[in-house]
Amino acid sequence: MGQKVLELHKITKVYTMGDAQVYALKGVDLEISAGEMVSIMGPSGCGKSTLLHIAGCLDKPTSGMVRIGGKDVTAMDDNQLARIRNRHIGFIFQTFNLLPHENALNNVIVPIQYSGLSRKQGMEAAKRALQAVGLGDRMYHRPNELSGGQRQRVAIARAIVNEPSIILADEPTGSLDWQSSREVMGILQRLNGQGRTIVIVTHDREIARYARRIVELRDGKVIADRKIDSVVVPDRELERAGKDVRVRPGLQVCVRCSYANRPRARFCSNCGFSLRVTPEQSSTIIRRMLGMTIPCPACGTNNRPFAKFCINCGEPMENALKAG
Ligand SMILES: Nc1ncnc2c1ncn2[C@@H]1O[C@H](COP(=O)(O)OP(=O)(O)O)[C@@H](O)[C@H]1O
Ligand SMILES: [Mg+2]
Ligand SMILES: [Zn+2]
Ligand SMILES: [Zn+2]
Repeated sequence: MGQKVLELHKITKVYTMGDAQVYALKGVDLEISAGEMVSIMGPSGCGKSTLLHIAGCLDKPTSGMVRIGGKDVTAMDDNQLARIRNRHIGFIFQTFNLLPHENALNNVIVPIQYSGLSRKQGMEAAKRALQAVGLGDRMYHRPNELSGGQRQRVAIARAIVNEPSIILADEPTGSLDWQSSREVMGILQRLNGQGRTIVIVTHDREIARYARRIVELRDGKVIADRKIDSVVVPDRELERAGKDVRVRPGLQVCVRCSYANRPRARFCSNCGFSLRVTPEQSSTIIRRMLGMTIPCPACGTNNRPFAKFCINCGEPMENALKAG
């Protein structure tokens, strides 16, 4: 096994809500080496998402230490963390969080914008990433022209496009049917076979078994950590996966969850989110979820994902969501 890419030492997380305190993590130790595929499993509310957000530098622990690629990130400021995320971490979510008005290629290219590559190099990287997830023939399709499994593959391509050292997936099959879930787990296994480090959070025991190592979390603590003989999705099953996709025209895709809604709907019938969002607003929402900087609506200066006011001109950053 290779070098340690992710180290969590004595991590605690306490949320304060009014007078009440929620102990989401109660001292978690976890080390993940380069090339591992690990499932973190446990019932709803046991702290899985909290743990993944801390591992991905989207959130800070109350106490404890996080190392990414051997570097202690605990004391880093927001800008340094944004750089670490962009370079080292790829995120995949249960609700795919794709830009609804953009095709697969433009969705995959989002994280490249601040990596210093030219547009042309970025395009090439995005095409390679889409080919790696078996979507070479779907690059110009928009989310509403793709099946659920294919949308999650676009999200996977976006997560790998910067060649991060580690991919973090929070319930990546939670919105998919059984067959699409198998396909997505098969893709993740393939990517792992090519040397990528992958951490999957799931409450589903069957999904957890696609990884070779299962860490069990219960009530904010690791209660088991073991190696297993993982279930493997055969290549031939992936090759014919998701080939026949029929989509009705005029459907509106939710920015938050990618659900295809009826043409005249105002709110997403899957998650309740407004369907009347501009492309700029959807881009802001998604950039936040990926932990990327957000341009100020007034002056264009890049701000950290959850900034309240622009660091350059003081404009409320909420306006990035109101504008349009
Ligand atoms: N932002 C938050 N504010 C307050 N409590 C939170 C917050 N996020 C999570 N929690 C609480 O922390 C615990 C762990 O939540 P979470 O990490 O989302 O669990 P899981 O992903 O395993 O379902 C839960 O009790 C949850 O209600
Ligand atoms: Mg969760
Ligand atoms: Zn939705
Ligand atoms: Zn500004």
